[in-house]
Amino acid sequence: MSPGLPGSLVRLLLPGALLLPACVDEPEPPWGHAPPLSELPATVDPPPVTDWLAEYWTFPVPAQGDAPPDWTPLEQRLDPDACGTCHPAQLADWRESWHHLAMGPGVLGQIVDWDGTDDRLVHQCQTCHAPLTEQHARLQQDDTWVDNSLLDEDMRAQGLTCAGCHVRQHQRYGPPREGRDVDESGRALAEGPHDGFIPRPEFQSSAFCARCHDFRPSQRALNGKLLQETGEEWRRTAFAAEGRTCQSCHMPEGRHLWKGIHDKDIVASGVEIRGGLQEAGSLLTPVTASLTLTNTGVGHRLPTYTTPEIKLILVQVDADDNEIARSRREGSVARRIKPDLSKELFDTRLLPGESYTLPYAVRRQPGAVAVVARVEVWPDEAYRRFYEIKLRRPENHPKGEAMLREALQNSIDSRYTLWEERWPLP
Ligand code: HEC
Ligand code: HEC
Ligand code: HEC
Ligand code: HEC
Ligand code: HEC
Repeated sequence: MSPGLPGSLVRLLLPGALLLPACVDEPEPPWGHAPPLSELPATVDPPPVTDWLAEYWTFPVPAQGDAPPDWTPLEQRLDPDACGTCHPAQLADWRESWHHLAMGPGVLGQIVDWDGTDDRLVHQCQTCHAPLTEQHARLQQDDTWVDNSLLDEDMRAQGLTCAGCHVRQHQRYGPPREGRDVDESGRALAEGPHDGFIPRPEFQSSAFCARCHDFRPSQRALNGKLLQETGEEWRRTAFAAEGRTCQSCHMPEGRHLWKGIHDKDIVASGVEIRGGLQEAGSLLTPVTASLTLTNTGVGHRLPTYTTPEIKLILVQVDADDNEIARSRREGSVARRIKPDLSKELFDTRLLPGESYTLPYAVRRQPGAVAVVARVEVWPDEAYRRFYEIKLRRPENHPKGEAMLREALQNSIDSRYTLWEERWPLP
């Protein structure tokens, strides 16, 4: 049934003979279209994009150039393994993070076939996924595109690296440190390795993250909403007013894990799930129940992107715990968009304090002994659909096909059950 179409209208369109008694009271999942952010009051002003920050996030990040000749070979290197020799904790975290996977098979599998045929598009993707000049296969020179002699293939495959966030012209930048003096050039610890670093307050601002997690206002919007606007969503929450930045939730104690929708624990920490049986029903009367998901601790819409879907499921089971198919009802907390990005089908995402309820009223099925209530997370759902469509024309992806197949499998394997309960039918 097409989301958004009221049930009464659908029933009008269906011949009366198809209206089985079991369906008459079947409630529609509450599909809808979350309002554009312009209609919701902000709790804080946009965090300032200082001149320093605007220049820091120039894309691609300009070539680093030659390292100071008096540095050791280790200090001169830009790859994460080199940084990790002295910063092992950050390296171990980052390796597990999605920033490291930002050039995984789903991204690289698409762009390898655009190198040399659509270089401009590759550049656009790498803005966020692998921003260093040393990670680009091709560069624009005047009006033509040429092979990049500085390309480091290994670095390209490693996505958003330490240097992407911390190094410009070999100079290290990092968050300010209490009690650490700076010299007249703004440098701290100038005698240490890599001549110290320049502390910058922007590292602790949401504006640092928003450069990649919010599209530009001039980019395509659907129903008044950009495809990514996490920082703007955050500005509509009380968390922002309380001074809780992206870093405070995603980098607790400076950890470099950036856990999100793929991680069961952080998702569980941001939601409350409640539900229960109201009527046990009989062969003539419906079993009634409901399941409610509330955003209690996510500092933006849950989920913020158009990629994940959070599924709420209610279904009757028999004595062997087999699901009775006809009795299954489900709803989605997600923003589902047509794969060609032309239309928003529904947007049931939740700002903090908002809830989504899946109601249930289905005739008790023969053999039913319980209702199972479940919340599943499908973190990569929109991409799963997208890869399936792409792989129908493998001839368009001579270099990337195998990677796209791997990405499709990954997008199925990443699903997990967030919560489940079994409510016996007396
Ligand atoms: C030879 C060892 C060594 C290497 C290699 C190294 N660093 Fe450092 N780095 C240090 C030391 C020591 C400090 C000072 C730490 C302290 O004061 O606690 C530091 C400080 C920093 C800081 C300042 C943050 C802070 O508050 O402590 C950042 C950011 C940083 N390094 C990033 C990097 C990156 C990125 C790389 C790789 C491109 C790298 N470093 C390579 C040893 C190293
Ligand atoms: C240079 C661009 C860039 C910057 C800056 C950036 N990110 Fe990301 N971030 C990405 C990209 C690209 C991905 C997606 C990686 C992928 O899945 O391929 C991502 C993914 C994530 C995820 C995803 C987790 C998941 O499970 O899907 C979180 C959380 C996150 N970033 C938080 C942050 C925070 C917090 C900051 C600021 C400290 C930040 N990011 C800064 C580009 C960036
Ligand atoms: C403005 C920053 C930005 C740009 C530009 C961008 N992305 Fe992303 N991309 C992200 C972020 C952030 C995520 C994480 C979304 C999530 O976790 O749901 C992501 C996720 C993805 C994913 C799914 C995760 C994965 O690693 O498999 C793919 C595939 C992807 N992007 C491909 C692309 C391609 C191809 C382009 C260019 C046409 C592109 N992106 C341009 C920021 C960006
Ligand atoms: C997405 C951008 C990003 C990437 C990638 C990244 N960092 Fe950081 N890093 C930050 C931010 C932001 C902070 C400040 C966090 C805070 O203070 O809340 C930070 C802090 C640090 C610090 C200061 C120590 C501390 O605990 O405050 C060091 C050292 C550091 N990073 C090293 C690294 C190394 C090494 C890598 C690669 C293995 C890396 N970073 C990758 C954004 C990044
Ligand atoms: C109050 C804590 C909190 C704050 C503040 C916060 N987040 Fe999150 N974030 C979460 C939780 C919890 C999740 C897991 C649930 C989810 O995926 O929405 C999450 C998920 C994510 C994801 C995973 C993808 C998705 O579709 O949800 C990304 C990316 C992300 N956050 C980026 C950011 C950025 C960028 C900021 C700052 C503008 C930020 N977050 C601020 C708590 C927070």
